[in-house]
Amino acid sequence: MPGREVFDQEEIKEVLEVLNRGVLFRYGFDVQRQGVFKVAQFEKEFASYIGSRYALGVSSGTAALKTALEGLNLPKKTEVLTPCFTFVATIESIEEAGLKPVLCEIDESLNISVQDIQDQLNKKTSVILPVHMMGSACDMTPIMQISKEKNIPVVEDACQATGAQYQGKKLGTFGKYGCFSFDYVKVLTTGEGGMVVTDDENLYQQADWYHDHGHPHRSDLPRGVEERMRKGTNFRMNEIQGALGLVQLKKLPTIIETHKKNKAVIKTVLEKYDFITFRKHFDADGEIATFLAFFLPDAKKAERFKEKMKENGINPGILNYWHFIANIKSVKTRRNFSRSRKILERAVVIEILVKMDAEKMADTLDRICREF
Ligand SMILES: Cc1ncc(COP(=O)(O)O)c(C=O)c1O
Repeated sequence: MPGREVFDQEEIKEVLEVLNRGVLFRYGFDVQRQGVFKVAQFEKEFASYIGSRYALGVSSGTAALKTALEGLNLPKKTEVLTPCFTFVATIESIEEAGLKPVLCEIDESLNISVQDIQDQLNKKTSVILPVHMMGSACDMTPIMQISKEKNIPVVEDACQATGAQYQGKKLGTFGKYGCFSFDYVKVLTTGEGGMVVTDDENLYQQADWYHDHGHPHRSDLPRGVEERMRKGTNFRMNEIQGALGLVQLKKLPTIIETHKKNKAVIKTVLEKYDFITFRKHFDADGEIATFLAFFLPDAKKAERFKEKMKENGINPGILNYWHFIANIKSVKTRRNFSRSRKILERAVVIEILVKMDAEKMADTLDRICREF
């Protein structure tokens, strides 16, 4: 899902411009910066693209999640419901915020099971944290319904889903906060970086203060004499990241469109074979097509299929093992997530690129399927 594939002279020009001006800090240095605020401009344009009132640039997706959880000011040690299939950063940010991750099963959408959210909910639940894995939406209608009925806030981990939608609304705009990652392997990249979005002024303010040591960022006072509004940390985005983000954001619609075309070419071929079934999408048009995930009838066949792919030069994703939290020893959990394991061990994942020979890959997969 790499925005890095489309790096060209535009990114180079923007970064050089920042370096020539010499201001890398997002705040202050008013004379030297000549009115140019790259991070602030990126936030403004990102908020407009996503459809949120506020956006706050941060140093990573992990930082975005931590900022969101701190911004809610939740009672410590309360529980956060999140899927057992996610990047470990989701779990780390919950623990770092002094909260307890409670993992839920996934279903054939490879996203959190709404049924298991209902089963795990209890008096100690303080947040529901769905993760839109591999660019495709969780089932947000029932999740938001549960949130409303139980009065439990939703924080969305949209780190892998910048630009994806659910029923015409961008992911990250359903919950109290939406969190995005712009690390080097993401669909929009600033090398490292992230964004927190919200529609709530107070929550924006909490996040803004938290991500920069409690600074209120007053325009009428120098930074050195500002009071501190709350406890915080340093998760600031810098001006080079802001400049890169602005260029990448412009390219994002074309990136997504190209992914979709490439994915369709490959999927059309696989659809001919009855032994292959596909990941369920709650909004097939709204996903950003960064991956094609499909299932073989059982784990043995999936392994054999992946071997055939490797022999033929196609890299089968290992995300389903790497991102299965039950396989990560540092995370303590009492459940074995057998339902999720059964789904993931049958899954094969192909990464879709902008610059790929989709026809060639489709032909190779066609041959593998015919001989399988
Ligand atoms: C689902 C998910 N959450 C959080 C993160 C953390 O993002 P970052 O690498 O920018 O810290 C990632 C990154 O891969 C991710 O995939």
